[in-house]
Amino acid sequence: MVSGVSAFHAELSRTKAVELKISVIGCGYLGAVHAACMAELGHEVIGVDVDRAKIDALEAGHAPFFEPGLPELLASANASGRLRFTTDMSEVADADVHFIAVGTPQKKGEYAADLTYVDAAVTSLLPYLSDGSLVVGKSTVPVGTAARLAALVDTAPADASLAWNPEFLREGFAVKDTLGPDRLVYGVPAGEAGERATAILDSVYEVALARDTPRIVTDFATAELVKVSANAFLATKISFINAMAEIAEATGADVTQLADAIGHDARIGRRFLNSGLGFGGGCLPKDIRAFRARGEELGLGKSLAFLGEVDAINLRRRDRMVELTREALGGSLDGKHVAVLGLAFKPDSDDVRDSPSLDVATRLRAEGAIVVATDPEAIETSRRLHPELDYVESAIEAAAGADAVVVLTEWKQYRELTPADLSGTNGQVILDGRNCLDPKLWRDAGWVYRSLGRP
Ligand code: UGA
Repeated sequence: MVSGVSAFHAELSRTKAVELKISVIGCGYLGAVHAACMAELGHEVIGVDVDRAKIDALEAGHAPFFEPGLPELLASANASGRLRFTTDMSEVADADVHFIAVGTPQKKGEYAADLTYVDAAVTSLLPYLSDGSLVVGKSTVPVGTAARLAALVDTAPADASLAWNPEFLREGFAVKDTLGPDRLVYGVPAGEAGERATAILDSVYEVALARDTPRIVTDFATAELVKVSANAFLATKISFINAMAEIAEATGADVTQLADAIGHDARIGRRFLNSGLGFGGGCLPKDIRAFRARGEELGLGKSLAFLGEVDAINLRRRDRMVELTREALGGSLDGKHVAVLGLAFKPDSDDVRDSPSLDVATRLRAEGAIVVATDPEAIETSRRLHPELDYVESAIEAAAGADAVVVLTEWKQYRELTPADLSGTNGQVILDGRNCLDPKLWRDAGWVYRSLGRP
């Protein structure tokens, strides 16, 4: 084993001329994108997952979910021979760096994160670690997890170590965010082990660092907290503007103009101030809940109690959307034909995990509405969870004969709709769950336009 950072770095630079050998354990959203991007950067990558079907798809160059740019990247990485996938953990034995990219979902019936997959990934990796190799956590975990896993890595037969390197990618921009991150955070142990881990990670991210990407080298706890506090802040920003939408609705103000106006203050900023149905997906909702749960465990429940309000404001938007639709249809949804445009938790994604849109669609149906739903990418993922809804391929089909059209995810193709496109409706009622349409355009054409937080 090499001792001393500079000697190690020199050796790594020499080997880097060939490539770094990287394994990525867990090939979901995070892992599949990370594996493909690492190969794109010139490394030799092996992706591991327990799900045979997922591995077969990735091996064949098919992305198992919709993510712009990923199919192209998989094709080029597979063709280069630098990217392979397997279900057999023993195949990672010669890797220098092992990224842990498995999920940390919300525990059933609890707010805390379920760490079963992270623990299982690290435990099953232990026998295959080689001297000098680095295990790098990417999954979003409660603060304190990395220290516990570092102790686990210390029990491996080989002299390996652990670092925590949170991921900040956004679905829909995952490839762009991974190849060109806005910052790199390394949580490393103290002393020489930390210097070695930093040198290895610098080699992994050589291309991004050459572009002056900010790099923060810190301890495990800070690195873990950077991730959850970033998501907590983003969720808070969204719920803040949605709370303002509630006030705007009661006072006749316009929340979108309010957001524009406060957003001009550079200290506030306009991004993540889009009011509407609120946040969903596989990250923000479960991350704020897990963070709160961790705060309680630490005896610091009060410090994070506000995240309970953030969650509650967010969930109230869904109630309000159903209420608004009911109001617009004369007080009852029973037997009314409602066209639902958008099911994914946000545009450019087929992900319907904790999707506010899909939730509202099912609630409208539960109140007796005949829901005809569509989405450019998320019909199949929605159907798996809710086969009882009626799905059609286009907004025009969904709207044919509808008493109301409800826009729940702001896909570009829905933002660009005009009253003429939806001339086949029964009632000219449009409900904008994302404040993404021009009210004047619809009202001038004789439609009833209602939204969350606009008069
Ligand atoms: C989020 C974070 O933005 C990423 O930085 C983070 O890496 C990721 O979680 C993660 O933890 O893995 P993502 O879930 O892909 O990324 O989606 P966002 O773009 O953050 O949107 C989250 C939700 O907030 C969506 O439902 C979106 O519709 C909603 N949103 C977003 C709003 O309601 N208003 C806004 O102004 C912005």
